[in-house]
Amino acid sequence: MRSHYCGQLNASHIGQEVDLCGWTHRRRDHGGVIFIDLRDREGLIQVVYDPDLPDIFATAEQVRNEFVLRVRGRVRARPEGTVNTDLSTGEVEVLGLSLEILNRSETPPFQLDEHENVSEEVRLRYRYVDLRRPEMLRNIQLRAQVTQSLRRYLDDQGFLDIETPMLTKATPEGARDYLVPSRTHPGKFFALPQSPQLFKQLLMMSGMDRYYQVVRCFRDEDLRADRQPEFTQLDIETSFLNEDELLQLMEEMIRQTFKEVLGEELTDPFPRMSYAEAIKRFGSDRPDLRCPLELVDVGDLMLEVEFKVFSGPARSADGRVAALKLPGGCRLTRREIDAYTKFVGIYGAKGLAYVKVNEVAKGREGLQSPILKFLPDEAVTEIVSRTAAEDGDLIFFGADKATVVNEALGALRVKLGEDLDLMKPGWWPVWVVDFPMFGWDPQGKRWNALHHPFTAPKEDHLDRLENDPGQCESRAYDMVLNGTELGGGSIRIHQEAVQEQVFRLLGIGDEEAQQKFGFLLEALRYGCPPHGGIAFGLDRLVMLLTGADSIRDVMAFPKTQTAACLLTAAPSEVNQTQLRELSIRVRKPQAEEQ
Ligand code: AMO
Ligand code: AMP
Repeated sequence: MRSHYCGQLNASHIGQEVDLCGWTHRRRDHGGVIFIDLRDREGLIQVVYDPDLPDIFATAEQVRNEFVLRVRGRVRARPEGTVNTDLSTGEVEVLGLSLEILNRSETPPFQLDEHENVSEEVRLRYRYVDLRRPEMLRNIQLRAQVTQSLRRYLDDQGFLDIETPMLTKATPEGARDYLVPSRTHPGKFFALPQSPQLFKQLLMMSGMDRYYQVVRCFRDEDLRADRQPEFTQLDIETSFLNEDELLQLMEEMIRQTFKEVLGEELTDPFPRMSYAEAIKRFGSDRPDLRCPLELVDVGDLMLEVEFKVFSGPARSADGRVAALKLPGGCRLTRREIDAYTKFVGIYGAKGLAYVKVNEVAKGREGLQSPILKFLPDEAVTEIVSRTAAEDGDLIFFGADKATVVNEALGALRVKLGEDLDLMKPGWWPVWVVDFPMFGWDPQGKRWNALHHPFTAPKEDHLDRLENDPGQCESRAYDMVLNGTELGGGSIRIHQEAVQEQVFRLLGIGDEEAQQKFGFLLEALRYGCPPHGGIAFGLDRLVMLLTGADSIRDVMAFPKTQTAACLLTAAPSEVNQTQLRELSIRVRKPQAEEQ
């Protein structure tokens, strides 16, 4: 039906007759001449119908937006003065010689170029229309290019693409499971995989040596702009590689993909930063290195100050008092500072103290702050010197539990960076390494695995598993790019005794360990090689590469914030027969029953 894509036509086609198929982007009547912008996957072309072919012209008059057309015509140069430089096809147009309406369309729920005035609900409800937008087509095309590039690299490096089950047993990645009831085993459930973690480890035990999979993962967790309940990982596992060898291979893959897809070079090698340093300097284990602002500890200066807001956390073992200097920040108005105070409140901060540094040379007199009166001279001098504050700067303070200060000031530095245009351009990858094995959960009074329970402790920290779990570091690593955690992985435990020890530490008793992970423990007894791997969030990678604001914009059919599909109206109720077959009786939440 078609000889060319609309978007491919250019001056080299002038004089040729072409067959085009596509959608009507716009139709304009210009006193006896009809212009149709015909759109397909590759772009737009202007088709012109003259009245001297009356039948065809009459058909052209019926055409409305989103009608599907087949056009035969001759490519010609646009008349002088009508060249459209915004359009790749803007030098040419097609003189229509025939026109067939392949299908009509009702008035679409929104005009493609007016999508910004439409709620995301409408866009998701009519996703097939939304996806026709050039931006969306480009995102989805780029996504395919990215997967192709990643696959090519891994294929070349001898990785095997192996599928793992979707109907499986719970894998602990820290979210709730999506469950699937079994008809043949009444009262029993499969879990959809949160990741193929255990299967990829079993594949290493099977001797596959290098595995990858572009694989769907399911996690029932709170959703955000960079989280979906169903998302795609590029999942990878290798045998007989140490951290250095693995990280090298993985960053080479990412460099190659950036080169192939965007033509951009990333640094070689990626810098590495310990978890402790990332938290100390950036308040986050996914530091956005585009932003030059850094947290500076000042707790030691606040031990004796009158101001309880500062001395309390300074004296507490799990507290932190940190400063964040904003160059030129004296310019901020009261209202702006109030807005930032409200912003850090989202992260649990109870306030946002600040000092304006008007003139360093004047000492105390040169400073301006509601909390100045609480701070002794030595503290003031040291704060100015430690933050290297200069005339016109402003210093923010956070004082609270370390977790609150880190989250609040960590988010504030990125927000300030964006608001005040401080972000450096380009790509700033970093490996975050030396993670702690465990994090203490004060509510549950227990240790949690920071990555997952199959992550190996550092060889020389093995004794800390017993003696000092909080100081035990793991062999985990995260790849972070411009503040987004692109991927995370680890070298795994390959000895049964160590795995059992970690389970016990996590409060997983022997019986529970057998019931949940007996198959893994058993497999570890039959010749398990040292192995390790990583998983990248493919949606997040594509989001960064396209510059999209949300991973929803790089997924063809994403779910809403409440984990629903508006297009198909899923999840939905099922009939009684189906439920009975599954031995399931539904208990609706009380509010709904009444
Ligand atoms: P992790 O849980 O860190 O590791 O996941 C790996 C990467 O997957 C992406 N990701 C998500 N993307 C979109 N929506 C979500 N809900 C979501 N959750 C995670 C992130 C993250 O870095 N089995 C381990 C990997 C391993 O150890 O090899 C795992 O799944 O980009
Ligand atoms: P207050 O004594 O509560 O009026 O607070 C004095 C200043 O300290 C105000 O600017 C508050 O925003 C700030 N402040 C209060 N609590 C904190 C905190 N936990 N961390 C940082 N600043 C705070």
